[in-house]
Formats: sequence, structure tokens, C-alpha cells
Amino acid sequence: MNNKKLEDLRSARWFAPDNLRGFGHRSRIMQMGYAPADWAGKPVIAILNTWSDINPCHAHFKTRVDDVKRGILQAGGFPVELPTLSLSENFVKPTTMLYRNMLAMEAEELIRSHPVDGVVLMGGCDKTTPGLLMGATSAGLPSIYVPAGPMLRGNWKGKILGSGSDAWKYWDERRAGNISDKDWQDIEGGIARSHGHCMTMGTASTMTAIAEAIGMTLPGASSIPAADVNHIRMCAEAGRRAVEMVWEDLTPAKVQSRGAFDNAIAVAMAMGCSTNAVIHLIAMARRAGHALTLDDLDAVSRYVPVIANVRPSGSQYLMEDFFYAGGLPALMRIISKFLSLEEITVNGCTIGQNIAEAEVYNDDVIRPLNNPIYAEGALAVLKGNLATDGCVIKPCAMEARLLKHTGPAIVFDDYPALKEVIDSDDFDVTADHVLILRNAGPQGGPGMPEWGMLPIPAKLVKQGVRDMVRISDSRMSGTSYGACILHAAPESYVGGTLALVRNGDLIRVDVDKRSIELLVSAAELATRREAMPQPEPRFGRGYGWMFAQHILQADKGCDFDFLESGFGETAGEPAIF
Ligand code: FES
Repeated sequence: MNNKKLEDLRSARWFAPDNLRGFGHRSRIMQMGYAPADWAGKPVIAILNTWSDINPCHAHFKTRVDDVKRGILQAGGFPVELPTLSLSENFVKPTTMLYRNMLAMEAEELIRSHPVDGVVLMGGCDKTTPGLLMGATSAGLPSIYVPAGPMLRGNWKGKILGSGSDAWKYWDERRAGNISDKDWQDIEGGIARSHGHCMTMGTASTMTAIAEAIGMTLPGASSIPAADVNHIRMCAEAGRRAVEMVWEDLTPAKVQSRGAFDNAIAVAMAMGCSTNAVIHLIAMARRAGHALTLDDLDAVSRYVPVIANVRPSGSQYLMEDFFYAGGLPALMRIISKFLSLEEITVNGCTIGQNIAEAEVYNDDVIRPLNNPIYAEGALAVLKGNLATDGCVIKPCAMEARLLKHTGPAIVFDDYPALKEVIDSDDFDVTADHVLILRNAGPQGGPGMPEWGMLPIPAKLVKQGVRDMVRISDSRMSGTSYGACILHAAPESYVGGTLALVRNGDLIRVDVDKRSIELLVSAAELATRREAMPQPEPRFGRGYGWMFAQHILQADKGCDFDFLESGFGETAGEPAIF
């Protein structure tokens, strides 16, 4: 396919004209040692690289970008690397979620303002996938996503360790006095053994699988471990493909149909996805012009079973095992009756064509539909007076006895208040209590930090309690687990009902009925609301101030209102005078 002509290349606006500006652009490219043979008549491919010295998940991107460039050169393109906000989940505080939209804005404007025709997006650590894809969607140029790939399995004394999940698990054991200092240090050194993103079914593995399901990666790309040489070959292939996509004018708008997002929801559910997927999927879809809602996700979760036996939803395996078992194409083939197989993907083929020959090599890792990990989908959306616009729970990663629960509330106004008492032997708490954390949402957090897996009080841990109902307007890490009810919308900081709960109020949760109720009369809640003080603003200036003015609530995906599709006219091509 060759739809686009040489003179139609966007980059030609910068490089082709025989005028003073054209002279300036050409002479400055030559300043870097290039000759016209390097760029003239070739698609310029931007590589948005989220490598940084402090992002261990993307450590290999520093050299892996050379493989992408090799592919671009082989296919007759001209690669230009554009360093992009790295958003290391571990190190960026208070939370990377505060900056996902900043990455999306940066990606969009980098693409728009530079002389490029197509884009390779290099990301993987949690927010980088939605951030880059949202930006590329709004920019509209042919784009392909290169996922960082999961790291190798962790190892400690011959035991397999999973990112996040085992950190929480062994931390509880340490708090219960069951783990020595030496063992703890050895776990620190063994849990992350290679570059690559978290290798549980956390947010990173979930979001890269979603990128593949919506057709924005090469088939199978999201499952390849970062340290596997197949990853290097995939990078080069993505580079080659980016050049072809320019000639084919295969833009994100042509790939990211509503059917593609419906496929992504089904894949997310079958994978036992991170709860964060809900927010990012809604934001990505709304960028692409599709009004995806929490109800859409809940509807799919009721009929697509969890078939990926990958922790924390699964009990045993990690992403490395998932790759050896056939990876995402194999999983998609198993759930193909739930998919729209005609959706086009970045390799120019349909989803149906891409998965036609996929095979499962280990049916304990990728289960058949009649032997799932969990019969219903990974997530459930609850609604009621405590979350009128909805909240999310992960039934497949919690103790089943808590699916229906009524208990008295213990309320914390912020995380420091919780930390002060949670490990105290004097803390008056039982396993039936419902722990509540408020002021942790998009505005109140600010940035909706991953505090939602509130620690089990140490006193209860020592008694053997490992799960209890916890409710907040925050998020939790995709590697977390337990009866944690998250993303309560509207959040408490803007007046959601969570702000009105008092210690001892009864709360009733029924996952089967999808309900969450604060058992306090409407009249009493109205009285409490009148007495509620106005919260202090979180920011007085800068990016945070802008964030506070424009961030949408969790049920809308937490995008900035002015970035969503349909807000206004997209900026046209930049003027070149
Ligand atoms: Fe980067 Fe988990 S810290 S994916």
C-alpha cells in the first residue's frame, strides 16, 4: 500500500521549500553531520523515548532505541529521537497520576511542533502507556507503540517473587514479626532482577496489553520480556512498520475504533486487569471520541471470565510464564468469541488475522474458557449513596467472604492520620470494621495516589487477618489485592458522600448487586453536608494549579477537560514563516 506521495510528507513543509526557512532547517540538520541523502524524500519518524536515569523499568530504552532506529533506516525513514517525560512509578512523587496528562500534553505538542511524519512511542511503566497514547491520539499522526516488556521473575531463596504483590505480602509478614532483617534485605535484592516493567498483572502489564488489544502495537509485542532478544527484534520491526504506516496514512483514528476499545475491555477482564485500567481506558477512549463509561466496563466484566493465571488475580504465574504460554495473541484467540475481529491494527492486518494462528502452550497459565481463574470478569463497578457516580472493586483478588459485608466505619481524613494509628496495639478495630480513607482522589490527593490498599492494622495481621473491606477515593497499584473499594466518585474533596461518613456509621457492600450504601438517612446526610467546611486549595500556582482547575473525576478518566475530544478545534499545523 502506498497512499501518500513524497510531496505530501508533512516534514517536507520544513525541509523542501527553497526559501530562507527551508535553508535554516536544512543547514541545521547538516550541522549534525547529516547530508540530504539522509533525509530528503524520506518520512521523518519521531521516537518518543521515556528513558531516564531514574526509571528502572525503561533502563533498556537507552540502547533499545538504536534498534528502533535501525528498523526505521532499513525501511527508508529518517529517525529522530525526542526525549519525553519518563514518569517512573517508583520515584515520582506524590504520584505519577498527577503527571499522566502532562506526558500526554507533551507527547501531543512534541509531535505537532516538530517536522515529523510518523511516531514510535516507547513506554511501559504504568502511566507512560496511556499518557503517550492519549497524546499521539490527539496529535493524529501514524503512530506505533513499543512496550518496554515485563522484567524477569523475581527470586529469593528459590521462591518466585512478583513485583508489588510480594512486597505487600512479605511486608505484612515482617510487621507480624515473621521475617528477619536479613531476609528482608535479600528480598529487596531479588524482587526486581532485570530491566523492564513490573511482571505481575499490574498496571503496566495491563496497559501494554490494552495497547495491543486496541491495535496500537505489533501482535504479541506486549508479552515479550524486556530481557528477551525477541524484544530487540520487535523494536526494529516497529521502526520498519512506522515508516510503512506513514505511506499508508494509517493514523490512530483509523485503528482506535469503538470496536477496538470494546476488544480492550474484554482483554483487560480476561487478563485479571489492574483497577487502574478503568481510569486509563475511559480517558483513552474519550480522547479517541468514544464515550466509554464505567457501566460499559461492568457489563463486559459480567460475561468475560479471568483466564490469565497471572498474579495477583491468578495464584501462581507471572508475565514471563504468560509469554512462554503463548502471550496475548493466544489469550485473545481463546476469548475470540467476545472480540470484534475486523478491527485494523498497526501492522495493517485485522485482529482476527493477527491471532488466527496463535496457540496456547500451557493451559494452566492461559486457561480455557471452561476452566477460568474467576468465572466473571476482573472488576466490578459499584454504585450507591456512597459513590453516586461509581467506584471499583477487584472481586477476583479478594477474599470471597467479603463480597457481601456490612460493618461499622473507621474514618481517616488523610494518610498521615491513618499511619499514626494503624500499627498501634491500642487501635480499636476488628476485622469487621470498614476502613475509610478520604481526601485521596484526583483533587484531594492530589493526583489520586495509590493509597487504596490501606494496610491491615498490625494488631489484626498478628491475629491472622489478611483482608478486610477498605474504601477510598484513591487508586491502588495494579499489583495490590484485597477487598479495596476504589475511585469513589465524586471524591470527598469535592463533596462526595465519602466526606460525610463518621466513625461507627454502618456501610453495606454487596458486590453481586453492585451496590455500596452508607446506612445513614438522607436527612442526616443533608445536615452533615451543611456543616461541612470548605477544603483548602491544594495548589496556588504552576502545573498543580492548572491540574486542579481542569482535572475530571475518576469515572470520566481523569483527563483534563480541555484535552478531551470534542472540547474544541484541534490545533492545526504550525505556521512556518
Ligand atoms: Fe514501573 Fe511497576 S514500577 S511498571
